[in-house]
Amino acid sequence: MRYVLGIESSCDETAAAIVREDGKILSHVITSQFNAHSPYGGVVPEIAAREHIQAAHRVITQAITQSGLSIKQLSAVAATTGPGLIGAVMVGATIGKAVAMACSIPFISINHLEAHALVVRQEQQVSFPYLLLLVSGGHCQIILARGLGNYQVLGRTRDDALGEAFDKCSKMLGLGMPGGPAIERAAQQGNPHAHAFARPMFGTAHADFSFSGLKTAVRMHIEAISKVTGSLPPQAVADICASFQQAAFDAVVDRLRVSLTLCDAVPEHLVIAGGVAANLVLRHKLEHFCNQNAITLAVASPNLCTDNGVMIAWAGMERLIAGDISALSCDIKARWPLESLEPLAV
Ligand code: KG4
Ligand code: ZN
Repeated sequence: MRYVLGIESSCDETAAAIVREDGKILSHVITSQFNAHSPYGGVVPEIAAREHIQAAHRVITQAITQSGLSIKQLSAVAATTGPGLIGAVMVGATIGKAVAMACSIPFISINHLEAHALVVRQEQQVSFPYLLLLVSGGHCQIILARGLGNYQVLGRTRDDALGEAFDKCSKMLGLGMPGGPAIERAAQQGNPHAHAFARPMFGTAHADFSFSGLKTAVRMHIEAISKVTGSLPPQAVADICASFQQAAFDAVVDRLRVSLTLCDAVPEHLVIAGGVAANLVLRHKLEHFCNQNAITLAVASPNLCTDNGVMIAWAGMERLIAGDISALSCDIKARWPLESLEPLAV
C-alpha cells in the first residue's frame, strides 16, 4: 500500500495529513490562525505566511507521529501549490518539496480547488463525471468534474463568494464571525418569507452567481428597520437571516438547474464542498433538487469540506496512482483556475 503526506497552507489553516491508497486516513492535523487575524476583520496575507512558518513543523511532525509510520514509509509528498495567498502557499509548498527531497520520494503539486473537488472520492464511490458545488468563504463555483485534471467550470461568482456574503451579513447584523453558522442559528427562529429579497441572477441563461446585490438589500433593510425602531429587535434579526438564507439558497438551486443544461456530460452525483456545505437548510434544498433531477447527493464529512490536509494528500494519491509526479522546480501560483489544468489519461 502507498502512503501520501499532504500539506495545506493556501489561506489561514496550516494542515497536514497522511492517507493510504485505499482511502484510510492515518492522520489529520489542522491548526487555524483565526485568533491572529481576528483583530483585523479578515485574513492578512503577511500574517498568514508568518503563522504558517511557525506552525508547519509542529503540524507536519504531528501528522507523521499520529500515523504510526516512519517517514521512510511515505511514498510521496503532496502540497498545495496554488491558488491562494502567495506567501502562504510558498511556505507549505517549499516545506513539502524539502521533505520530498530529503526522503528521495516524489513531490506532487496540488491545485487546492482540485483537492476540494476530489476529496469526496476518498470516502465514497463517486465516479466521473460529477457536478461539484464548491461554496466557501473564498470559493464559489459550479464545476463538472470529468476526470483528473479535467474540469468544466459551469458557473462562478462575479463578486462575493457565498460564505463571504454570509460573513458580511452576519457582521452587519452584529452576529460576529464566522457568519455562516451564526446566520443559520438565528434563522431558525425567523420567517424565511418575511422579506422578499431578490434572488440574484435568477432565471439567467448562464450559471454565474452574484451576491453583492443581496448583501446591499440586507443592509438597506437593516437601516430601514433601525430607523423606525432605533435598534434591531431579535425577531427582526431572525427574519432577515431566514429571508437572506432563503434568497441565497434559492439562487444556488437556480444556478445548479441552469448548470445542468450547460454540462457536456450527464453527472450521476452532485457533490457539495466548502464551509457552506455544513448548512442544513442548503443540504435539504439540494436533496430536493437532486430528487427532482435523478441525481445522487454526495457530501464529504464536514471536517473534509473545509480546508484540510486530507484533501491534499488524497489528491496527491490520485495523481500518484495516475503516475503524475511534479518537478521540484515546479512553480507556485496565486491564480490557477481549474479549467487550466491538463487532463490526465488514466
Ligand atoms: O471552507 P471554509 O472553512 O474556508 C474557506 O473559506 O476556504 O469556509 C468558511 C466559510 C465561511 O464564510 C463561513 O461563514 C461559511 O463557510 N460557513 C457557513 C456555515 N458554516 C460555515 N455558511 C453557511 N452556513 C453554515 N452553517
Ligand atoms: Zn478551500
